Amino acid sequence: MQHQKILILDFGSQVTQLIARRVREAHVFCEVHPCDVTDEWVREYAADGQLKGIILSGSHASVYEETTDKAPQAVFDLGIPVLGICYGMQAMAHQLGGKVEGGHKREFGFAAVRARGHTKLLEGIQDFATPEGHGMLDVWMSHGDKVTELPPGFKLMASTESCPIAGMADESRGFYAVQFHPEVTHTKQGAALLERFVLGICETRPDWIMGDYISEAVAKIREQVGDEEVILGLSGGVDSSVAAALIHRAIGDQLTCVFVDHGLLRLNEGDMVMDMFEGKLHAKVIRVDASELFLSKLAGVSEPEAKRKIIGGLFVDVFKAEAAKLKAGNASSKGATFLAQGTIYPDVIESGGAKSKKAVTIKSHHNVGGLPEQLGLKLLEPLRELFKDEVRELGVALGLPPEMVYRHPFPGPGLGVRILGEVKKEYADLLRRADAIFIEELRNFRDDATGKTWYDLTSQAFTVFLPVKSVGVMGDGRTYDYVVALRAVQTSDFMTADWAELPYALLKKVSGRIINEVRGINRVTYDVSSKPPATIEWE
Ligand code: XMP
Repeated sequence: MQHQKILILDFGSQVTQLIARRVREAHVFCEVHPCDVTDEWVREYAADGQLKGIILSGSHASVYEETTDKAPQAVFDLGIPVLGICYGMQAMAHQLGGKVEGGHKREFGFAAVRARGHTKLLEGIQDFATPEGHGMLDVWMSHGDKVTELPPGFKLMASTESCPIAGMADESRGFYAVQFHPEVTHTKQGAALLERFVLGICETRPDWIMGDYISEAVAKIREQVGDEEVILGLSGGVDSSVAAALIHRAIGDQLTCVFVDHGLLRLNEGDMVMDMFEGKLHAKVIRVDASELFLSKLAGVSEPEAKRKIIGGLFVDVFKAEAAKLKAGNASSKGATFLAQGTIYPDVIESGGAKSKKAVTIKSHHNVGGLPEQLGLKLLEPLRELFKDEVRELGVALGLPPEMVYRHPFPGPGLGVRILGEVKKEYADLLRRADAIFIEELRNFRDDATGKTWYDLTSQAFTVFLPVKSVGVMGDGRTYDYVVALRAVQTSDFMTADWAELPYALLKKVSGRIINEVRGINRVTYDVSSKPPATIEWE
């Protein structure tokens, strides 16, 4: 099935991906590509007739850093609507004959913008009206340069006191531009404005719906794989789980999942993964219990990076050994020719702007990078086009339990990074039990104001094992036992995070239960450090 699409050209802004997410939330397919693609590339991209509009993003550049990136001229010659955002507006103004001036004081933060000229983009979209009846929008601004003269054919669409041309439009050509950022949630009507652009102005069909996407993805996988066989490294995390469920839906027993248990998983996690995939979905899963191998190689090692290297290296070795067995085939199978990975769209987007930056922003999948080449297998990446929230929606549509799909992230090296210093089985066992209590109580406690559980109100929460002992009393006796730290954060991107203000009653219950139920731990602390300067994990 062919989807109509919107092209987002990235000038390197930190929030370009948010534009794509807002467009997808309007159920329209879109892709992000660097701004320095060529004219020929743009024409080729539009050649199938499915391209209905183009959005030019903001830029990474600040007032201190000059950017002269331009949009490919073809963008303005295709005869389809174009929306410029922030730097994208300035590029549009500059390239179409207007004037942009630099050297202004950077404007950063909330602003009230007055809508002007009754354009289709802003028609009926407003936060409030002034006593004189002017429609106003509460928006987020972040720019240094600004447009000071409209290009020929354009009219004024929005203004603020400090930015008289905060929006412009040439409706005859379908060109619109705003100086503020509609993609961030601070701009209250931002989602409505982007939806108006893609549905109202570009007139795209809103057909990007995860429930419907299953049959399309299944057909694609069947076509790509044919009657060959696929192996997949199942970690229990969201991406590999959803990829496994989707591929299994498509090709059933042609898929074999390999689940490496490194002994650093959460309480009962291995059994839960097996119960779901083997028990409920009836998928072929090979569970490799490699905990003794991992723990023996980790003995005596306390430096965090050294621990990570050992865990990562062993994981690859164990997976490769299993994959080689499967690749070779046996009486009941011809051998695998595909390696499936749960790579998602943010892992593959190339960001725009400075050419040198592009290479560093392309991430390889952290667990199995380089494996397909080493194993001589072809790659199958059915989630490559999806954002994390779409992967979750797809997972639920495929019948995976919401508790699994909406689980907090868990690092690949597992408890290896949550046990400070040397990793020992005794420590991992204590930590697993303490952590399970913390998570259970986060799921039990609800916030009165929102009705949500504290598990859902936090982005990531876990327990950290500290290899120090302190004195305590229990009954009539003295104890000399280990300390754990509870960590709970709220964040939208995991780049910055605030420590969560958990209710005291919850902390009290968790601490009481851990100390009473987990013999060997006699002290519980709560981490009140934000990121930065602290990180989310302790290591
Ligand atoms: P930090 O501790 O750097 O963590 O603030 C940011 C986020 O990344 C997760 N994390 C990892 N995830 N493999 C992963 O899949 C890893 O090696 C890894 N290390 C950290 C961390 O849990 C947090 O969500």
